[in-house]
Amino acid sequence: MFQVHCQACHTTSEGIGYKVGPNLFGVFGAKAGQRDYSFERHYSRALKQSKIIWNEKNLHYFLENPKGFLPGTKMPFVGFRNKKDRDHIITYLKKISP
Ligand code: HEC
Repeated sequence: MFQVHCQACHTTSEGIGYKVGPNLFGVFGAKAGQRDYSFERHYSRALKQSKIIWNEKNLHYFLENPKGFLPGTKMPFVGFRNKKDRDHIITYLKKISP
């Protein structure tokens, strides 16, 4: 799931750098747009200023419709309509957030 839909743009291991999007290690529970320092200057203003915390609820909104939830985000992903798909991904994001 993550491999197919997210891995082209996101790395997940600690400290290995970013791709098109920021590294996602530790993203669950973190503040949006602040965690990956090396990606700092690439984050959109929308994301940096959003004050979003990546909890379960906000990840569901974001992954369902990134641009609808956060106008101005640079994440070019259409979103998952199916809650099961989002659940699956969020479970994975928790796993990489010790
Ligand atoms: C085509 C590239 C691309 C794909 C595919 C993609 N992302 Fe992203 N992602 C980005 C970019 C670019 C950003 C930075 C957005 C911004 O600054 O507005 C981002 C940001 C994020 C953030 C916020 C990170 C933070 O530090 O606040 C999360 C969470 C995230 N993506 C999860 C995912 C997940 C899960 C998937 C797969 C379902 C995915 N992304 C697919 C490019 C992508």
